[in-house]
Amino acid sequence: MGRPLIIGNWKMNGSLKGSEALIRSIQSALDAQGEVDLCICPPFTLLSHVGSLLAATEIKLGAQDVYHEDSGAYTGEVSLPMLKEMGCQYVLVGHSERRQYFGENDASVAIKVAATVRHGLTPVLCVGEELATRRANRGEDYVLAQLMAGLSLLEGEVKEIAIAYEPIWAIGTGQAATPLQASAMLRAIYQLARNKVPAGQVRLLYGGSVTPENAAGFLAAEFVGGVLAGGVSLKGESFAQIASLAGSKTYV
Ligand code: PGA
Repeated sequence: MGRPLIIGNWKMNGSLKGSEALIRSIQSALDAQGEVDLCICPPFTLLSHVGSLLAATEIKLGAQDVYHEDSGAYTGEVSLPMLKEMGCQYVLVGHSERRQYFGENDASVAIKVAATVRHGLTPVLCVGEELATRRANRGEDYVLAQLMAGLSLLEGEVKEIAIAYEPIWAIGTGQAATPLQASAMLRAIYQLARNKVPAGQVRLLYGGSVTPENAAGFLAAEFVGGVLAGGVSLKGESFAQIASLAGSKTYV
């Protein structure tokens, strides 16, 4: 499955001063980074600062969202050329919090995914179902519909795309999915995504209450190629522990 990818999503947290300490603690706790890709997604206001802190490291920079137009009268928005200028390589698209609180929907997600690819950055398309949907046995259909919509506007060659399965009921709740649940959903995601994107170009992540304690289970599960971590990415040592675990695993 290739190198694992570990992404830290700081959400609306962090400060100029705090990010310096956080990056330092990640670095000092990081074993040899090994065969793992690490990425940090701070808020927009910290991209420049965190970008310069990461410049001397192997850790990559990502954004938490983007607007698909390149420039213009779109108050409050941030474009792909702007993210590129900051050195971003990854962009989270369609995180459930964006869908839940900010009106993001399948149509806007599709436009953002396509625009991100067009600009040569890697979208991290987030999909995931509510607990009620899973309980009604409609979880897979729901997630696959989100996936199809998210990939629907892709055209031409796609260099790399990441898809994060993040069940809404597991995000920030301390109630992670099981590795088996993550693996089963990512298998279905992989089979469908493969029609749109060559297999080697898709990276599959699990997200939702990942901790250093449960990370090894996810990373060992079939079809799980990394994790998207929220809360734990704000704790340098814990995030580094997850990265080190991922770096020490031999993927087949
Ligand atoms: P969490 O968030 O790790 O705090 O559950 C994950 C996410 O929202 O990406």
